[in-house]
Amino acid sequence: MGIILILSCIIGLVVNAEVISRGGFPNGFTFGTASSAYQFEGAVNEGNKGDSIWDTFTRRPGRIMDFSNADTTVDQYHRFKVTIKEASYELRKLDILSRKLRTHLRCLPLSGIKPYATLYHWDLPQALEDRYNGWLSKQSIEDFERYAYTCFKTFGDRVKYWITFNEPHGFSLQGYDTGLQAPGRCSIIAHMFCRKGKSSTEPYIVAHNILLAHGAAFQTYQIHFKDRQGGLIGIALDAKWYESFSHKDEDTDAAQRALDFSLGWFLDPLFFGKYPLSMQTLIGQRLPEITPEMSQRLVGSVDFIGLNHYTTLYARNDRIRIRKLVLQDASSDSAVITTSSRGGVVIGKKAASNWLHIVPWGIRKLARYVKDIYGNPPVIITENGMDDPNRPFMSLNTALQDDKRIRYHRDYLSNLSAAIRIDGCDVRGYFIWSLLDNWEWNSGYTVRFGLYYVDYRNNLTRIPKASVQWFKDVLR
Ligand SMILES: *[C@@H]1O[C@H](CO)[C@@H](O)[C@H](O)[C@H]1NC(C)=O
Ligand SMILES: *[C@@H]1O[C@H](CO)[C@@H](O)[C@H](O)[C@H]1NC(C)=O
Repeated sequence: MGIILILSCIIGLVVNAEVISRGGFPNGFTFGTASSAYQFEGAVNEGNKGDSIWDTFTRRPGRIMDFSNADTTVDQYHRFKVTIKEASYELRKLDILSRKLRTHLRCLPLSGIKPYATLYHWDLPQALEDRYNGWLSKQSIEDFERYAYTCFKTFGDRVKYWITFNEPHGFSLQGYDTGLQAPGRCSIIAHMFCRKGKSSTEPYIVAHNILLAHGAAFQTYQIHFKDRQGGLIGIALDAKWYESFSHKDEDTDAAQRALDFSLGWFLDPLFFGKYPLSMQTLIGQRLPEITPEMSQRLVGSVDFIGLNHYTTLYARNDRIRIRKLVLQDASSDSAVITTSSRGGVVIGKKAASNWLHIVPWGIRKLARYVKDIYGNPPVIITENGMDDPNRPFMSLNTALQDDKRIRYHRDYLSNLSAAIRIDGCDVRGYFIWSLLDNWEWNSGYTVRFGLYYVDYRNNLTRIPKASVQWFKDVLR
């Protein structure tokens, strides 16, 4: 379980492209930071935790770039109270796993933090993977509903914002098509890498079950808790913006398909009760059917849309479709080639991770697209951020002076502000990924996404980077 905590505030100043402040955003706009239990908590064997599919996965050789695991990571399981105190500027967030959730949440009223809790952030109990193949089984829908019910019942007096799933598009593909993430299923690479799986069908089955599980949790909340607790339910989708590679129709269509196969895959069922037409056409029988009954349950089953947005890519038509011929996997179904440069010019400077190019105008286009296509629903930017490399010989002072991160957030926030003020997008919150440096899945500890530096060689001490002061000033 991941959780995002923030403190709501008011106050206003003036915004322009250079100076960002609360005043550039509507009253009641929420600022926060985001984290996830698995990447933060460590304490792998404590509190009756039990193995998750990520514990199993990281123990398999060759999966994590620096051969690390998340057994300790930044030890947030033991240090969350300290973190709350240290980071007690106005926003902060913590990560919490279910075993610790109760304790964490007890602290919140005292610290003035408003929690946004995520029910599923990738760490499925291994026991469910073993018993019935996890998300591949319809049983997961019922079990998720029961789990959600328990969380609503236990924590719903304090948690008013619930996120059912984090990045279902990302983990459907990484976990079941490429096999690069837990549970590591695929059929595209040699069998020594993926022992089981079917890359052309499983991602779609998993996503389908997740949508139904989301719908079931939403409905349970409406029936049993909404009146009494008055909370809101959303889902956090990983959403890149795709810019057409050229003005040619075939590339414009490709950019649309890229959006259909990522954002539309989940939002179309939730708003229109069906998968995007381009997906139906290109995937055919391999795409599970949304029956009229399912459709009725899904439509309208979100109070807000969470967008995890980091970057933008160019998209162009894949005419030759070699990947399709060779790999026969879900990722090739869209017939799109994405690139980060055009005519030798990159779309934006790279952060530490290869996938993360800095393209601030993309967030405005994305917000505008969601407004136009889905009828201006409430949106929360549930993650936005960039990473620096973790270089062993970099001086501490250099690492703490994270000007690139400050510029990143300044430019993304000014474009977001324009989306709200000028384009009329109903965006209600913005969470920085992440509060602390932490364990970045396949990249292990090779990158640093935090506002706070974690000194891995000195007892995991947390030290504020320059961006902490900058963010405080924005919020003042
Ligand atoms: C949006 O970001 C771009 C950089 O991508 C920046 O040049 C521009 O000033 C920003 N626009 C607004 C309205 O802040
Ligand atoms: C490491 O940090 C924790 C949390 O601040 C503290 O409780 C502990 O005593 C420290 N350990 C050492 C060896 O300094």
